[in-house]
Amino acid sequence: MKAISFIRKAIAGVWVASAFCLATGCGGEGSGPKYRIGISQPSDDYWRQKSNEDIERGAMFHENVELDFRSANNNSGRQREDVEKFIEEGCDLIILSPHDATDIMPTVRKAREKGIPVVTFDRTLDGDDFTAHLEVDNYALAKSVGEYALTVMDRPIRALEIQGPPDSSPAIRRHKGFSDAMAASPGTEIVASVSAMWQDSLAYALADSILALHPEINLIYAHTDYMALGAEKAARERGRDDITVLGIDGVPHIGIRGVRDGRLTATFLYPTEGERLMALAVNILEGKPYDRINLTPPLPPIDRTNAEIMLAQDSLLNLETDRIKLMRGKLHEYLDRNTAQRLLLYAVLIIALLLGVVTFVSLRAVAIYRRQRAALEERNVRLKEEKAKQQVLYNRLEEATQSKLTFFTNVSHDLRTPLTLVAGPVEEMAHADYLTPRHNSLMQTARRNVNILRRLIDQILDFRKYENGKADLHLSEVDAGRLIRLWTDDFMEAGRRRDIKISCTISPEGGIVCAMDVEKLERVFFNL
Ligand code: FRU
Repeated sequence: MKAISFIRKAIAGVWVASAFCLATGCGGEGSGPKYRIGISQPSDDYWRQKSNEDIERGAMFHENVELDFRSANNNSGRQREDVEKFIEEGCDLIILSPHDATDIMPTVRKAREKGIPVVTFDRTLDGDDFTAHLEVDNYALAKSVGEYALTVMDRPIRALEIQGPPDSSPAIRRHKGFSDAMAASPGTEIVASVSAMWQDSLAYALADSILALHPEINLIYAHTDYMALGAEKAARERGRDDITVLGIDGVPHIGIRGVRDGRLTATFLYPTEGERLMALAVNILEGKPYDRINLTPPLPPIDRTNAEIMLAQDSLLNLETDRIKLMRGKLHEYLDRNTAQRLLLYAVLIIALLLGVVTFVSLRAVAIYRRQRAALEERNVRLKEEKAKQQVLYNRLEEATQSKLTFFTNVSHDLRTPLTLVAGPVEEMAHADYLTPRHNSLMQTARRNVNILRRLIDQILDFRKYENGKADLHLSEVDAGRLIRLWTDDFMEAGRRRDIKISCTISPEGGIVCAMDVEKLERVFFNL
């Protein structure tokens, strides 16, 4: 029983261990994502698409990060909804590039109150309620655009500035940086500064009308490459191929291609910085130290001298990214297979262990059973031997008893004959009438004792009969009271001699008449 309960416990233990192992993957890579990060983009233009790709590439360097991208399509209400969703879905961190710096504030505060870190990038909020901010230094970037224009243009600058929305932080800084650079150089002038709201079609229309009014304009500076391309189209259509056109962003197939194709004089890279953004987010999530404000200095311009190389590098980067993605896929496949194989190995080991335990317990149980059976058999043998010895002793005893009985029977037979011969004369003498009372009494005693002797001898002979099962019951109707008094009298004389007082009281006086085997009862009485 003990062994069975042990096996049961062992099996239960193994099942619990297996279930635990399978549930946890025994520390394998199968465990789900640790951090869920929501990314809210204000729009879905090329720069944003590149930004998302870059963030995804950055996430490859961090295990267990799950990303959820949403685009607000330049609509602040939509962006509020997106961020609300992230809060509801229990995102661990929100990355946000605000479309409208003010409208989004209540939603950002809500997230912060719930303990969700909010990292802004590229555009700032109308307030201080963010966890960290990352941005390429838009002011320095715009200043470097102005400085570049000053170095490449041999004529006094007459600029048309096409801005982003006036309340958008990159637009404000891109305007300020450029203006400061222009202001630092006497003789330059920003002829017109208008907002095309990040839209190339609006930039085209605005440039067209402004160029019509201001033929002196020799520089178009737009806050993005696609607005610069829109304005360039208007200038080209007006036959103004002499105008220097500068843009910001450096998205390869838009801005850099524009430079390579001679449509833009130069573009200034506004890196999407996905890797830095992910590193910052993960540091925050893991409670590691991080900088709250992260400003990246601007890079040198991309013009005809390096546009081709930049495009080639971008193609290479894309190729490498695809290869990394492929390898990552294979790695995951390998890890999944490895996890499955490891689980299988654990299962096999557990089964082997279980079999080992069962075998060990079974062998032990069999050994214990065999030992117990051997001990039992040994005891049986000893008992049998003991019984045989007892049988021998019993037989001997029986033999001795039989010999004794035979001896007594023979002796009794031998004694009975002379006793019968004595009994006759004693009987006769006891009834003689010439005896003195004293002699008569003595004769009576002699007669009684002869009778007793005869009875004793008869009893020995009867015993033999009982032994052989030949004793019979001889009933006769007698007065038991009278008999008992008579038998008591036989002891009176002996009692007197030994000074023992014997009395016999029988009630009722009239006697007790009953059926009994007188001879046998007499034997009982005299043997009391
Ligand atoms: C993309 C974009 C970029 C620009 C940035 C400024 O949505 O307009 O072209 O550099 O946003 O926030």
